This record gives sequence, structure tokens and C-alpha cells, in this order.
Amino acid sequence: MRKRIVAGNWKMNLDHREGARLAGEILGGLKNRVPQCEVVVMPPFTSLHAVGEALRGSSVSLGAQDLWHEESGAFTGEVSAGMISAAGCRYVLVGHSERRHILGEGRDLLSKKLRAALKGGLSPIYCVGELIEEREAGRAEETVSRQVEEVLGGLDAVGMSKVAIAYEPVWAIGTGKTATTGDASGMHGVIRDLLSKLFGRGTAGETPILYGGSVKPDNARALLSADDIDGALVGGASLASDSFLGIVFPT
Ligand code: PGA
Repeated sequence: MRKRIVAGNWKMNLDHREGARLAGEILGGLKNRVPQCEVVVMPPFTSLHAVGEALRGSSVSLGAQDLWHEESGAFTGEVSAGMISAAGCRYVLVGHSERRHILGEGRDLLSKKLRAALKGGLSPIYCVGELIEEREAGRAEETVSRQVEEVLGGLDAVGMSKVAIAYEPVWAIGTGKTATTGDASGMHGVIRDLLSKLFGRGTAGETPILYGGSVKPDNARALLSADDIDGALVGGASLASDSFLGIVFPT
């Protein structure tokens, strides 16, 4: 059965003390309950160690929000896959829309980052999603398909088995607007069909495809029970234990 993941992307929020506190609250809320998904938190780099310590021995996994593709050297301000892995991370985001659209990251860099993550033993969560202009022009599927193919194309089955995809329509991130369950589920189907063409049905069927963009406790149940939606990448609502746990255990 395909893995299900609910991941909290804390973005540039919470220092290491606040992060460790939130991790402790999340663990408290998970006590005596078994989620139907892997729970992941993705703090800023400076909080990874403290949050990792707070989560030690628990079932909650740690992830980072970005990486640099070289292993070491003169890359001021950057952090390698090896460093992230040594800090206790299992996951790393690649291609989040804020990195694409604010930091200007594109195909070539994201391909290198994704392959560096795999080489460093991390599981990348590769983010894709269309801008509002692209959706209004009827080019949402074309955009997302291109983003999938240009970075994941050419991976072998072993590499692909470590990758999860997050479909995050850019217009839904941090805006309170969510794609309808039908739209999200439809795009996930498009992505899965493309994966089938690129990697075969077996690999496509095993790849978790998460939805992201204003996921909240009150829309989580509908989204997470839709066809082809295997979890959520959560921004704003992951910054408080109540709302994050309300997505991990949707009602
Ligand atoms: P949001 O962010 O839940 O605040 O919309 C999602 C994301 O950017 O991953």
C-alpha cells in the first residue's frame, strides 16, 4: 500500500526553542493514538537539531525545507544533503513554490537538488503547482506535467521509489483559497498517469502525491479522503499543535 504523509512546513517561523515546544505538543497529541499517515515536521535549519532532540525515539519524522546540491565547499549560506541527514532528517522539500517564485529556482537547479537529496540518502518531497494565470489560461495541467517531467524524468525506479510529490497550486498557498477536492484529485490523477508513462504503473502506484495549499482541519477530511490524494503538505496550519493534529486526525 502506498505511504501516506502529513508534513508540516514551518517555513521561516519558530526559533529552536519555540520549535522544540511545538514538537513536544505534537507528541503529546499523538499519545495513545495511531495516525493513518507518517507525520513529518519541517522546521528551519537552525531548529533542526533542537526539534530532532525533542522528537527522538518518536514516530514523527524530521525534514528540511531546502538543500544545496554540492556536498561541501565554498557555498556561503548553503547546507548539503549530508548535513541535513546528519541532523536527523529523513525528508527534504525540493522546488517549493516560494523557492521557485521568490528565489528564482528553476528546472536545472531543482534537478540537481533532487538528485543530491537522493544521493545523500534523503527522501525528497518534490513540489509542483501552477500560478493563477496558468490556471486561468487553461494551462494548469500542462504546467504541472512539465514540472514533473523536467525534474523527475530520467530517475531510475530505485530513486523514484524514494520520492513523494506535493501538488500545491500557487494561488492556494497561504491565501485561504483551496482547490476544490475535485480539482485537486483530478490533478493528482494527471500526475499519476504521467508517472505511469514515465516509470510504469507499479512505481506510479507507489508514489505518494500530497496536496498543499491552505489545508486546514475543516477541509482536511474531504481532501485526504479523495482519490489519489495521499496526504498533505501544510504551511500555516502546521504552526500550532491543535490545527496540525486536526489535519493528522481529520474529522
Ligand atoms: P499553506 O502553505 O498551508 O499556508 O497554504 C502550504 C505550503 O506552502 O506548503
